[in-house]
Amino acid sequence: MPSTPIQLAEANPIGRVTAVDTSKAYIQIDDHDKLKMVIVGNLVAIQGATGHQYLIAIVERITRLPGEVVTILDEVEGDSGFQGDALQDTVRVVLVGTYWTDRGGKGPTFKRGADTCPQIDQPCYLLEGENLTNFMGTLAGGIQAEAAIELGTYVIDPDAKAVADGNRFFQRHAAIVGSTGSGKSCAVALLLERARKLAHPNLIVLDMHGEYASLCEGPDAYAIRMKIAGPGDLQKPDKDTLFLPYWLLNREEMLAMLLDRSDTNAPNQATVFTKLVRDAKDRSLAKGNREDVRATFTVDSPIPYSISEVLAELADIDSQMTIGSTGREKQGEWYSKLTRFISRLDAKITDRRYGFLFQPPNDSFAYDWLAYVLSRLMGSPDGQSGIKVIDFSEVPGDVLPVVAGVFARLIYDVQFWMAPGRRTPICIVCDEAHLYLPVRDESDAPSKRALEAFERIAKEGRKYGLALLVVSQRPSDVSRTILSQCNNFVALRLTNEHDQSAVRSVMPDSMAAITDVLPLLDIGEAMVLGDAVLLPSRVKLQLPKLKPLSLTRDFWSEWTTQTPDEVAIQEAVEALRSQSRRRDNDE
Ligand SMILES: Nc1ncnc2c1ncn2[C@@H]1O[C@H](COP(=O)(O)OP(=O)(O)OP(=O)(O)O)[C@@H](O)[C@H]1O
Ligand SMILES: [Mg+2]
Repeated sequence: MPSTPIQLAEANPIGRVTAVDTSKAYIQIDDHDKLKMVIVGNLVAIQGATGHQYLIAIVERITRLPGEVVTILDEVEGDSGFQGDALQDTVRVVLVGTYWTDRGGKGPTFKRGADTCPQIDQPCYLLEGENLTNFMGTLAGGIQAEAAIELGTYVIDPDAKAVADGNRFFQRHAAIVGSTGSGKSCAVALLLERARKLAHPNLIVLDMHGEYASLCEGPDAYAIRMKIAGPGDLQKPDKDTLFLPYWLLNREEMLAMLLDRSDTNAPNQATVFTKLVRDAKDRSLAKGNREDVRATFTVDSPIPYSISEVLAELADIDSQMTIGSTGREKQGEWYSKLTRFISRLDAKITDRRYGFLFQPPNDSFAYDWLAYVLSRLMGSPDGQSGIKVIDFSEVPGDVLPVVAGVFARLIYDVQFWMAPGRRTPICIVCDEAHLYLPVRDESDAPSKRALEAFERIAKEGRKYGLALLVVSQRPSDVSRTILSQCNNFVALRLTNEHDQSAVRSVMPDSMAAITDVLPLLDIGEAMVLGDAVLLPSRVKLQLPKLKPLSLTRDFWSEWTTQTPDEVAIQEAVEALRSQSRRRDNDE
């Protein structure tokens, strides 16, 4: 539906252009009353070269100052102490796009980027009322209906629907950032809710707190929940329990978890372990008559083998004696060099918290198991929903990065090796990304492994139809490589200065001032920036129908109405003992 063009009467400009630099313009306002109508964040249309064309800009700063100070201010921010009488009202705007009331018979059109620089003395108009609504209508019309994701409404015009281009949003990675409780998880749930309307959405949510379980239960459920096995799931895992057997880990991932780099024998331990794992994989292939794979596999290939056999062999080598040149028995080459490695491995194998890695059920050793699990993860088997929520809540913190990394690597690898014509796009939603995608310099060995997998997706994923949606309350703690690859940002309220500058640092310079509003945003309000929206805009996000289980509690009211539940406390103590939080104990 073609939208109505804006109509700006020559009689009613707020002021005229007095100065221009590459991406900014300064508008001088002569009528003092008109200045009162302008608010930071307002949209301004500057008359372009032809009568049909306007440059669209966002108000960034409004000043009433003695004339000369205005110019000085941009060089030296601060009070210059200038004393003068003539007050000058100036508005600084950042240029964001070009608008045509009619472009080649196609009706009103908006395009990002200023086609030309504004000319001095051109009249400038405030977009408000009907003009604003019509302009917003043009923005929405600029996104093809079938690609549009409705996010909510614009703060400057609550009547206009804020939409983003779904193709562009996911094509080159996106990020949702905001302080705790600002509405990130709700924003994720909203995107998922929009995606569910499609016939074949494909999103994998890495859920660190089990808070998206609510999208998978009840009559309106639309997502499939899988849970990484916790200690309580090892005996009788149900169908949705997910194991990531150790044999899926490549050499680096395994060593990142097992090796103590400060041990002087670490290089020896790594060498022996690698050789034994390779041999064990070879034996396993020989047993299964997989001669074809046997000819080309490497130590990193995901091939089932027995870790207890490897452990026994390690113990053997660690205590091996040899016959010396004098004929007397002496300690072998590796004698007691592996002891500490063995005890670390043994401790991991027997620890139930690591059961999802080291105590997988027998059927996971079947050759076909991996293809079965990955098709559940990456497809929509039996016509089930393609939105999958993977509950990581019981994965121990020290291995969380490795596990998330293995996950990402497997998905990337499968996309990579798949016939190009048969790939379908997949998005991995990384909730609480700062936990496993930390800034590289500060990360330890296991985190570096995870980072590599995710950074590879951030850099190369686009070509293989793989996107990341990074969600974090601490963007300053999230890998810069990954953040800087994100082309779209939904920035909710961010109070911390470091986090704000992390977001600012990955924005184009001209947008930097727009991020100044981040600490002032209301809950559920976001600056949406990037190529999925035609204009960086402040949007009041809609609340999803099914909300994540993360709702903010009303402390004061609940202290008035609720008594603490002692039975629940006792049950929680039992859950703590058995390290199993069964969902039926949750309520
Ligand atoms: N668009 C919205 N409109 C109104 N309220 C909202 C909106 N989004 C979230 N909220 C409210 O904010 C609260 C917190 O939301 P949410 O769980 O999404 O925060 P979060 O940013 O994910 O926090 P955390 O970083 O701690 O995970 C919820 O109680 C929710 O009701
Ligand atoms: Mg959250």
